[in-house]
Amino acid sequence: MRAELIDGAAIAAQIRSEIARDVGALAARGVVPGLTVVLVGEDPASAVYVANKEKFAKQAGMRGDTIRLAASTSQAELLALVERLNADPAVHGILVQMPLPSHIDPDVVIRHIDPRKDVDGFHPVNVGKLLIGHTDGFLPCTPAGVIELLLRSGVETRGAEAVIVGRSNIVGKPMAALLMQPRAGGDATVTVCHSRSRDLYEHTRRADILIAAIGRAEMIRGEHIKPGATVIDVGMNRVADPSRASGSRLCGDVHFDSAAEVAGRITPVPGGVGPMTIAMLLQNAVRAAERSIT
Ligand code: GUN
Repeated sequence: MRAELIDGAAIAAQIRSEIARDVGALAARGVVPGLTVVLVGEDPASAVYVANKEKFAKQAGMRGDTIRLAASTSQAELLALVERLNADPAVHGILVQMPLPSHIDPDVVIRHIDPRKDVDGFHPVNVGKLLIGHTDGFLPCTPAGVIELLLRSGVETRGAEAVIVGRSNIVGKPMAALLMQPRAGGDATVTVCHSRSRDLYEHTRRADILIAAIGRAEMIRGEHIKPGATVIDVGMNRVADPSRASGSRLCGDVHFDSAAEVAGRITPVPGGVGPMTIAMLLQNAVRAAERSIT
């Protein structure tokens, strides 16, 4: 392996300790940041994510609550709960875990959350603020975590060719907006590729910074990467692996072993971007609490 590993787990732990310090300072002013996560239904992957969010919120000294609702919950019932949380002064951050059951429209739910409590950064007000470059909104956690990884690993984004593979509202689009902002962690020349891109790998081979967020297991291999590039793997895919006792393993959108022979720096899966997402969520919740008293 030639590439240096970007250890997202270690960087996220460092950020969580900084957050715990900020939580202590807020507590001294009589405010305990409160994060409430709403989980509708029993999706097993979502249940694991939600449990981790609550665990790390509590570890940082915050109030972490999870409200679990049956999969049969109606959209009206969920909206009524969101309204109650919007009005509750002890709740500074609200996160409704996605995906929602198919009878609930996620856009309606997101638009119902008070933008000042939208710690996911999914509300159109916060999406707009990100695009304009206003810093008083909330950044979506996964792309914000990627920028933090780049900054803390000393990766120069200014003037760099950054290529994002994936155009989702949660990762690809906000990632592009962040990388093009005129500030530290931005100033990159950004290309966004997707499933309809012609000559996809022509683009990936030009990238100084390659961000894979397509949701297709190990689609990017060493031969698609510019030597020395920084590779950030946002993918989280479960694939069959008969050699494991569980019969499966987690992998990213990047084929790690071949990519690590070519890249200069690379994030692993798991232990790369994933832990950063939760750290950024806690940071948003602390900001929400700070803003509630200023
Ligand atoms: N499901 C998977 N990732 C996320 C996330 O970042 N936020 C929410 N609300 N749901 C998710």
